[in-house]
Amino acid sequence: PETGCLSIVVLGASGDLAKKKTFPALYNLYRQGFLQPDEVHIFGYARSKISDDELRKRIRGYLLNDKNASPEQSEDVSKFLQLIKYVNGSYDTEEGFQLLDKEISEHEISKNSQEGSSRRLFYFALPPSVYPSVCRMIKKCCMNKSDLGGWTRIVVEKPFGKDLDSAEELSAQIGELFDEPQIYRIDHYLGKELVQNMLVLRFANRFFLPLWNRDNIANVQIVFREDFGTEGRGGYFDEYGIIRDIIQNHLLQVLCLVAMEKPVSLKPEHIRDEKVKVLQSVLPIKDEEVVLGQYEGYRDDPTVPDHSNTPTFATVILRIHNERWEGVPFILKAGKALNSRKAEIRVQLKDVPGDIFRCKKQGRNEFVIRLQPSEAIYMKLTVKQPGLEMQTVQSELDLSYGQRYQGVTIPEAYERLILDTIRGDQQHFVRRDELKAAWEIFTPLLHRIDNGEYTPIPYQPGSRGPAEADELLSNAGYIQTHGYIWIPPSL
Ligand code: BG6
Repeated sequence: PETGCLSIVVLGASGDLAKKKTFPALYNLYRQGFLQPDEVHIFGYARSKISDDELRKRIRGYLLNDKNASPEQSEDVSKFLQLIKYVNGSYDTEEGFQLLDKEISEHEISKNSQEGSSRRLFYFALPPSVYPSVCRMIKKCCMNKSDLGGWTRIVVEKPFGKDLDSAEELSAQIGELFDEPQIYRIDHYLGKELVQNMLVLRFANRFFLPLWNRDNIANVQIVFREDFGTEGRGGYFDEYGIIRDIIQNHLLQVLCLVAMEKPVSLKPEHIRDEKVKVLQSVLPIKDEEVVLGQYEGYRDDPTVPDHSNTPTFATVILRIHNERWEGVPFILKAGKALNSRKAEIRVQLKDVPGDIFRCKKQGRNEFVIRLQPSEAIYMKLTVKQPGLEMQTVQSELDLSYGQRYQGVTIPEAYERLILDTIRGDQQHFVRRDELKAAWEIFTPLLHRIDNGEYTPIPYQPGSRGPAEADELLSNAGYIQTHGYIWIPPSL
């Protein structure tokens, strides 16, 4: 691994994303020894005029609950916080960025008294509207000192535009200043343990190879459910809606990993090449394969307009036009304020041909990857009901992580992805052409929703969402097994 000075700059340091995700992820990396105090310095940058200590104080509560902390943990957090320095400045003038560069350089000089490099990571915990100006400022004032070697990388997060044109414009603006290997577009779903497991499951197991196609698979569902609404984020959410917030990015990325062909190797470009091909094979979305919903009470949020047409729930069927998947519906479903919180991939197989257990209709085999909570991989299958009679029952082969990997902490998505950016591994980041292909799929539908051509169906908060979505599912050929429910094993 590379050594030498590493400067991590969190832009938007006093914002929500930085406090809730970025700094805690950095702290966890530090705690596990991935950020060495003799190499690393962290800079917070934002507009507010606060002191180093004030920033540290604001972050502290997100790293540690002081009430339950042991003195060692508390000490650990304090040591970490000492690595953070705050610089204040605006996002569109050189002054602040010159100051930032000065601070980074001083640190590089002092730490590089022996030998080393100038590695500079800029994490954009910022609204995308300022991405172009911040990129210009970094390019102008803050690039790594080439005589020391090293690199400059930027980490950006969605929303990358609102449709194909705006996303392409943003990509072009950033692309003029930075090369693709310097740009890390985060989709945090790609950092989740079970999403990362997808490639291993599919391509390291003989089990799945012959089954993973239209001959055996009836349908695939990729589901995201939350049991809370847009609390506190109504203003942001209303401009984007559930398709831009969850489906066009998180669920579509998961779809790519489920549907893609085997990559030539595990090299990031090989993997991303295959993902792009899947996206480019998706057919235009049909009107009758979309159900939109909005939970009752959503508009009561003062930051949401009274007549908002924004969906908080959507089921959309995608069809992949290729040899492997022709005819298999990929059902993407996401909703806020539903009756449960979970994310999973559910692959349903076709019925057994020539069934001899005719007395009772057998449930279909399903392969389920529970992304969260209670991470698990399980296969729903039919077995003989234990006992004297020849009767069948639905059961499962269950690999529940909590049970199988006791004592193992599953890393947070952001933690892993930030480590990748430091190591220069772009495998789990979205490439520019991938982003474009993703927008191409959803832009026509999104424009029609924005133009008011769709009216979301109201649903009760705490429900399953609109009943029309279940109808769409069953029309697409999904068969629910009644009377069977998987229960995560208790420890
Ligand atoms: C974010 C969305 O990208 O993902 C949020 O903007 C959503 O609306 C969140 O709540 C869900 O992430 P996770 O990791 O909690 O499933």
